[in-house]
Amino acid sequence: MDERHKKTFYITTPIYYVNDVPHIGHAYTTIIADAISRYKKLDGKKVFFLTGTDEHGQKIEKSAQEKGMEPIELADRVVKRFKSLWKKLNISYDYFIRTTEKRHEKGVQELFQNLKEKGDIYKGEYKGYYCVSCENFLSEDVPLEKEGHKICPDCGKEAGKVSEKCYFFRLSAYQDKLLELYEKKPLFVRPQSRMNEIRSFVEKGLKDLSITRSTVKWGISVPDDPEQSIYVWFDALNNYLTGIGYGWNKDLYQSFWPPDIHMIGKDILRFHAVYWPAFLMAGDFPLPQTVYGHGWWLKDKTKMSKSKGNVLDPHIILKRFGTDPLRYFLLREIPIGLDGNFSHEGFIHRCNSDLANDLGNLVQRTLTMIRKYFDGNIPTLGEELSDDISLRKRFDALKSRVADFYDNHSINKALEEIWTYINSVNKYLADSEPWSLAKDETQKERLARILYQTACALRGISYFLYPVMPESAQKIWDFLGEETKIEQASLPDLKFEDYKAYREILKPEPIFPRVDLKDFLKDEPKAAQGEPKKEGKMSQISFNEFKKMDLRVAEILSAEKVEGTRKLVKLEADIGDEKRQMVAGIADTYEPEELVGKKLVVIANLEPATIHGIESQAMLLAGVKEDGTAVIPFFVEDIPTGSKVQ
Ligand code: ME8
Ligand code: MG
Repeated sequence: MDERHKKTFYITTPIYYVNDVPHIGHAYTTIIADAISRYKKLDGKKVFFLTGTDEHGQKIEKSAQEKGMEPIELADRVVKRFKSLWKKLNISYDYFIRTTEKRHEKGVQELFQNLKEKGDIYKGEYKGYYCVSCENFLSEDVPLEKEGHKICPDCGKEAGKVSEKCYFFRLSAYQDKLLELYEKKPLFVRPQSRMNEIRSFVEKGLKDLSITRSTVKWGISVPDDPEQSIYVWFDALNNYLTGIGYGWNKDLYQSFWPPDIHMIGKDILRFHAVYWPAFLMAGDFPLPQTVYGHGWWLKDKTKMSKSKGNVLDPHIILKRFGTDPLRYFLLREIPIGLDGNFSHEGFIHRCNSDLANDLGNLVQRTLTMIRKYFDGNIPTLGEELSDDISLRKRFDALKSRVADFYDNHSINKALEEIWTYINSVNKYLADSEPWSLAKDETQKERLARILYQTACALRGISYFLYPVMPESAQKIWDFLGEETKIEQASLPDLKFEDYKAYREILKPEPIFPRVDLKDFLKDEPKAAQGEPKKEGKMSQISFNEFKKMDLRVAEILSAEKVEGTRKLVKLEADIGDEKRQMVAGIADTYEPEELVGKKLVVIANLEPATIHGIESQAMLLAGVKEDGTAVIPFFVEDIPTGSKVQ
């Protein structure tokens, strides 16, 4: 089917595990999907946007157990966190599916039964290795780490041995059909580089896939065989069917199936680009158009992930900056196919430079001048001169390029184009110097034309920004005196000169805050930097891993409070063979003076970090209380400085 002529558009995000609370990575996928949904609506499509949570399986079972909760209690709690974050991020999903809903469970059982009756599911026995963190059966090629243990090649965690009776899905029978699919629909997997990965994976040969577990209780039970529970990925993937009405709303299902795009991270591409189309082929369903495996946000060069505990909590950024700057940064900073490193410096730079300076100033200046020189509404316009025409013409070109980029999911490119235009409008204003013209009564019509042209450009700019920054775009639109919602204006009909000059301009308020990085990190030094949370048990490490840490007795030589911060103390310590400078958040428990001469434990080979502009070259160890205050264990008996701690 030709995508551009279809009236409907069905987009999904992964359904997220409820083992822990959402982080920037989950926000990222969901924001991409939201921006695409909003764009498609502007382009006249009827959109269905599905997101939700993946609540069954061993990973959740284990995580609930560690927290001393029932799985469903944990799920209920985490679902609230996801929903509240989506609300804060302005996510316009149409349905939030939970895999513990009855109609989903019923649908999955039905889909399972169908495949069984067709002979694509059969009973057998699985012997191999299973990674609980990825909920994945390891391939036989993965080498043995030690007897009974393999290391999961995807997440690096230990996978345990499993031997159990189960049902298999005849995946091997779909190898050729999958290869044919990739051949016929080269855009089935995007970006292109990922398609190659998937094709070579399938070319290597597919083994039948175990799709039930007999040792996992927390799952949907196999029809007529309650000892077995359905494998969590078979359960989860089918949410894309049950979430659009399969088994409970035929009209809904028929108007939207198949999905236009499954937006996912590259970590789960194989499940979506190999297993999922095979399940669908087996069930005779029309296949999705595209599976888009976007890149990862990294923190300190490794993937941000709940299991690693290096995640950034979006709430801290939201509290300080609001929603749109975060949406903008995530979509602007990197093309969605590539990985990106999240840094607060980068984020704050974009906020200050792109948002506050380039766009924010343009809005303020334009609107303030229209209010000041024309009392808020522009009267008779002077003639359109060549610069004015060029601004209008370039807008038309921008419109088609931006549409192409959005259509192609190159959101960062669309934003880049919009910013080039914003800067050219800034230049147009600077070159035509309305503030000088305002001093000359005979130039009134010329002045009116310039400000009118700028207002037209701003109106168009805010329209294009709407998919990414819906709230701020609507604000600009409102300041300009528009009385409608942006989403009511259709993209194909959008024109530069649609702005009506006589509309009254409202008093603009600053839309984007300007924030100083130092101030930001001062208030939230730890949480903002993605320090691991304490919740839950941590996984075991080997003695060898422990030995990699250079823990030593250090003596504090001097200590002073870091100016302008509440908690930070700058310390100088003797660690035996050298002196090190450290920064620690301990000022609410200790006066700097009382620390001098004390001996404590530091880790000396930790990568240096810059905190509030000061390099911290070692880290002292301290207990941290619920409220974040630190208590340092000092040595009571004397011990030489530099002694090893083990
Ligand atoms: O995999 N950067 O759930 P999950 C970018 N339940 N995106 C990231 C990210 C990061 N650092 N970390 C996570 C599951 N994501 C299954 C899915 S679907 C039928 C079942 C995003 O909670 C990205 O979209 O582990 C990734 O694919 C997803 O969260 C994984 O979420
Ligand atoms: Mg994951």
